Amino acid sequence: MSRRPAVLAVPLGLGAVTALALGLYSSIHEPTGRDFVLTGFDSTASWKSALASATVFLVLVQMTLGLRLTGRLGPRRPPPPWAADVHRLVGTVAFGISIPVVFHCIWALGYQSDNSRVVVHSLFGFVAYGLYVAKILTARSDEPPERSLAVLGSLLGFALLAAWWSSALVFYAGTATS
Ligand code: HEM
Repeated sequence: MSRRPAVLAVPLGLGAVTALALGLYSSIHEPTGRDFVLTGFDSTASWKSALASATVFLVLVQMTLGLRLTGRLGPRRPPPPWAADVHRLVGTVAFGISIPVVFHCIWALGYQSDNSRVVVHSLFGFVAYGLYVAKILTARSDEPPERSLAVLGSLLGFALLAAWWSSALVFYAGTATS
């Protein structure tokens, strides 16, 4: 493990550019307002909330596996040989199923500044994808600084959880009380 934090400059820089680009596009693009109802779901919000919940669940599984891989969780013996592959696969699936959700958010709904919950939701969404880029690039770099992956992975998990909390959870709470 390298102790040179400078190797993080490119991943963090490109992560920041990604978050800013998503924010800029969401602000200037005219939202279409279109609904997409998938078979098996009765509204756009219901499939989006289901996929967002599955994403958050998989990210929590991935974080747990990451802690096991870095020796921060579980027994002292080395992690099983399949743990790294499962960690990567779970992360890839989580990212893949989040794409239609975020695509609809940005393309059909856009950045809406008239409600503080929705502003918080969007900002955490931008930050989550910026952190995703930073984490993947850091993981691919030679000798990432110690703890950088654990810190970036945890921040990414937190940002996604906050984006889910301020949207899907609100949707489920409204469904439960209506
Ligand atoms: C990337 C930037 C994002 C923007 C600009 C954005 C924007 C929005 C907006 C404006 C709404 C409507 C909120 C309301 O009226 O209550 C919304 C809803 C929602 N968002 Fe996002 N969002 C983003 C990221 C995300 C992410 C990362 C997730 C997944 C965790 C997500 C999942 C949802 C869900 C499940 C809903 C509720 C269903 C709906 O109203 O269509 N969004 N989003």
